[in-house]
Amino acid sequence: MTKADELQKIREQLEADYASLPLVTKATDTVPGEGNPNAEIMFIGEAAGRNEALLRRPFVGLAGKLVDKQLEAIGIPRKEVYISNVVKCRPPDNRDPLPEEIAAFAPYLDKEIEVVNPKLIITLGRFSMGKFIPDVKISQIHGRLHKVKFQGQLRFVLPFYHPAAAMRQGKVMEMFVADFQKVPKILAYVKTKEADEAFVDDIKDALL
Ligand code: URA
Repeated sequence: MTKADELQKIREQLEADYASLPLVTKATDTVPGEGNPNAEIMFIGEAAGRNEALLRRPFVGLAGKLVDKQLEAIGIPRKEVYISNVVKCRPPDNRDPLPEEIAAFAPYLDKEIEVVNPKLIITLGRFSMGKFIPDVKISQIHGRLHKVKFQGQLRFVLPFYHPAAAMRQGKVMEMFVADFQKVPKILAYVKTKEADEAFVDDIKDALL
């Protein structure tokens, strides 16, 4: 089975499971991840918003346009990356997802990560960051590469502010744009590293 087939199977499973999932009343309320099955970079956001729920695609509203623009600025077409969310549907009034909602959708996201097997995971906002790097403040670690053990595997994780937060505050936008500019260098760096290298918590800024 190809990676594309495996990702399609995850989407079908998500729809098939709809009745047991929180926030979902019908199969078409689900918003699966999308993108290049062989992506080197996987972005993980929070949850679908209104536009995402309507189109059943992640990051297609204003926040998505900002991500697309920053990707374009660093010469990476959106179709080259994979984009998903911790919660694969829209919470009412776009409220923060609850821990039990994040937990309910985790198996689908975890499987997407396993299948795509990206070289670099970029988290957008504190909920996806918390999946890999708990008990930290995004203001302290955004834009810094972390190497974490996840599902028994070492993964490179780069936490970013959420694009919606960037759109609300000029200072955050500056940091969001600056963090994006680091991506080509960080991707080149992680590609030189072996996956089974000794565990390190945090790679020094000096390397970046
Ligand atoms: N915000 C998110 O976190 N995810 C989306 O898909 C859209 C907006």
